[in-house]
Amino acid sequence: MTIIGIGNTKGGAGKSTIACNLAVAAAKKGKKVLLIDADIHSSSSAFVSIRENKNIETEWIKTPTVHEDLPKIKNNYDWVLIDVGGRDNAIFRSSLIACDLFIIPVKPSVFDIWDTIDTIEVLKEAQKWRRENNLKKIKSHLLINMLKAHTIIGRETIMELQEFKAEAPILITRIGDRSAFQNSITKGLGVLEYEPSSKAAFEIAALYSEINDLAGEK
Ligand SMILES: Nc1ncnc2c1ncn2[C@@H]1O[C@H](COP(=O)(O)OP(=O)(O)OP(=O)(O)O)[C@@H](O)[C@H]1O
Ligand SMILES: [Mg+2]
Repeated sequence: MTIIGIGNTKGGAGKSTIACNLAVAAAKKGKKVLLIDADIHSSSSAFVSIRENKNIETEWIKTPTVHEDLPKIKNNYDWVLIDVGGRDNAIFRSSLIACDLFIIPVKPSVFDIWDTIDTIEVLKEAQKWRRENNLKKIKSHLLINMLKAHTIIGRETIMELQEFKAEAPILITRIGDRSAFQNSITKGLGVLEYEPSSKAAFEIAALYSEINDLAGEK
């Protein structure tokens, strides 16, 4: 059982898109998946509610008790994914300290690069809390999302984000800026279901494998 947070303190970097697509990828592999929405926008739970296939369970948590609630239910699932809201607040911190793995999506933009430092600072505090409570370090990684191939800003983002490699190295898989991600979510589908042979689906399959390896799961 692994608890995987997808979050940053900045809005719009693709947290919900990535969390929903990873939930679909894991469910397709036969994992029992709980997708927790820890964001006031409730995008992830709305996504699950419009799905015809009921192979993903969801909870919308609005109180900063994720780290207390999860240990009670986590053994019912293989993967618990948390869509961790786009601002630093008590629910964000409570979700973060509950995670085994934490994935920080970053959009190739100067503002997003600058704002990554805020997420890293909260992450450092969460790691301190975990140490003090004799819990394992959270494995944390940055994920480049909405990458436009062969652009200067794309290359610069990858270079600039190396600054955080001690706290959160960049995942090998990168997710492109692709319309399939927008078109599929409105239908309650992951890209693996919507366009299984698309580049978007290929990237999500690669992301799933990379994260599954990091989680040390089969
Ligand atoms: N790889 C991608 N390619 C194209 N569009 C994308 C991609 N990832 C996300 N988007 C789009 O970018 C927008 C923001 O994505 P999303 O809602 O997942 O971000 P978020 O971080 O959850 O935002 P919020 O902080 O508001 O909850 C959405 O319109 C989504 O469809
Ligand atoms: Mg969201």
